[in-house]
Amino acid sequence: MRPKIILITGANGEVGHGLIHQLAALPEMPPVVVLDIRGLDAAMRPYVYETIVGDILDTSLLETLINEYEIVTIYHLAALLSTHSEFNPEVAHRVNVQGTVNLLRLATEQSRLRGQAVKFIFPSSIAVYGLPDLATKAAAGAVREDQFNTPTTMYGCNKLYCEHLGRYYTFHYRQLAVTDEPFRVDFRAVRFPGLISALTLPTGGTSDYAPEMLHAAAQGKSYAAFVREDTRIPFMAMPDAIRALLMLAQTPPERLTTRVYNVTSFSLSAGEIRDLTLHFFPDADIRFEPHAKRQAIVDSWPADIDDSTARRDWGWQPQYDQQAAFETYLIPTIRQRYGR
Ligand code: SER
Repeated sequence: MRPKIILITGANGEVGHGLIHQLAALPEMPPVVVLDIRGLDAAMRPYVYETIVGDILDTSLLETLINEYEIVTIYHLAALLSTHSEFNPEVAHRVNVQGTVNLLRLATEQSRLRGQAVKFIFPSSIAVYGLPDLATKAAAGAVREDQFNTPTTMYGCNKLYCEHLGRYYTFHYRQLAVTDEPFRVDFRAVRFPGLISALTLPTGGTSDYAPEMLHAAAQGKSYAAFVREDTRIPFMAMPDAIRALLMLAQTPPERLTTRVYNVTSFSLSAGEIRDLTLHFFPDADIRFEPHAKRQAIVDSWPADIDDSTARRDWGWQPQYDQQAAFETYLIPTIRQRYGR
């Protein structure tokens, strides 16, 4: 008998850390096996069953995983974020798209072997949207899943395409084969807004100015934001992002009317984030020095997203609105982290 496990790729990133913590607190969860090219930080290792240091592009490594474990659910978090991806778009494509195909294939094989669909939980992003200009962004309001699907970044293109791949592997994989595929993968995606964690910082994203501003202020460091003060996108506190992944994973399939859901909590301008930061850290030194090209990326992302489908289908609701996010999560946790 192979042990039943949950597989998390890219687990050493900030979503991975949050997910490992919340999974560890849930009763009756299968143990977690981690696959990350960077390994897993020592502090996280007590919470997982095994850490595999390896590449999602290494198909023979993925084969050995199938032989060793019965994988029940995959949280496929490994990806290069939007700013990183623009420095090497073809590498980003390999990691973000081929890596996802490799995991979808592994999940399909695994579903066949166990006679039951493997759940495949995928974090997508507001980067799948591409609004043509600021006037359209201002007029658009809260954008629905099917609007403005014209991303300008390699990362956004990759995420949007992977959503389609997930739908394909779930409903249409090998549709012309003589014998029907009885157990396909069960793919589900959430499109996250910018995420803000009190414990970790993202690497290589374009919404990073928000967490960077807050973490710099909490450490008494000055910070120059790479966007204009009036830049507005939606955000979410990290614990809510993890909750969204877990809630979606637990929803019975018959309740899902789509496989890709927006989720959000609050929209803020960079100037409003600065003001909130100053409220809690009055000595903070925060400036705005927009980087024209990173600015253009954030300007192409919506100011707000409509998550009513997630609310209707699986009861999504953030626990941390703007006030709760800052007052009960970000500020106390970040103060504790930096001892200030
Ligand atoms: N936070 C991500 C990024 O900035 C968007 O998904 O790339």
